[in-house]
Amino acid sequence: MDGTRPHRTNPLLRASLKRPNILITGTPGTGKTTTARYIAEATGLEHVSVGDVAKEKECFEGRDVELDTYILDEEKLLDHLEIILADGGKVVDYHSCELFPERWFDLILVVRATNAVLFDRLSARGYSARKREENLECEIMQVVLDEALESYEKEIVHEITSETEDDLQENAQRVKDWLTQWKVDCRDRVQKAEGMEE
Ligand SMILES: Nc1ncnc2c1ncn2[C@@H]1O[C@H](COP(=O)(O)OP(=O)(O)O)[C@@H](O)[C@H]1O
Ligand SMILES: [Mg+2]
Repeated sequence: MDGTRPHRTNPLLRASLKRPNILITGTPGTGKTTTARYIAEATGLEHVSVGDVAKEKECFEGRDVELDTYILDEEKLLDHLEIILADGGKVVDYHSCELFPERWFDLILVVRATNAVLFDRLSARGYSARKREENLECEIMQVVLDEALESYEKEIVHEITSETEDDLQENAQRVKDWLTQWKVDCRDRVQKAEGMEE
């Protein structure tokens, strides 16, 4: 045995020292970025926009002209994100969720919007009629919610809305409360694990 080995090697103990990662997902225009920024501000967690990481790290393989989107180099993006999320404490914002490993996230919030609200927001964003229709259909068909429910434990998936200032405050408060409980649960798990070690 060399002397550099940490005293505590219990994986549960090590995991408990990390802060949780939260994923904010949903159809484009539902309010992910606004919500994620607000939650980050309220909780002290750090906002990570996956789209920005993809751009900064150039995780694209080309452009799909017909769909008017970039083709993502998923492997490259996931490699970068893995490093960013390793220490926890991140509020991640992305319009899809099935590409991430399940173990990365402790809470999944799916932002939902009504047709009228989404229509106005996507129009204001200057989306083409086709792109707007595709996204409206995606929201009506609850594609991202189903994706989340298939990719993660149902218990950690929650739907939220982001239409008013009150929604932002309420959502941030809910996450703050969740975070407090998460820390309590972690402490309990650690104490239990320590008890078992003795
Ligand atoms: N709770 C809210 N109250 C008022 N406006 C909102 C709210 N949430 C989102 N918006 C507005 O809706 C638009 C889309 O929000 P955004 O956060 O960019 O969506 P997404 O990141 O999901 O594409 C923005 O103009 C934003 O200001
Ligand atoms: Mg956004």
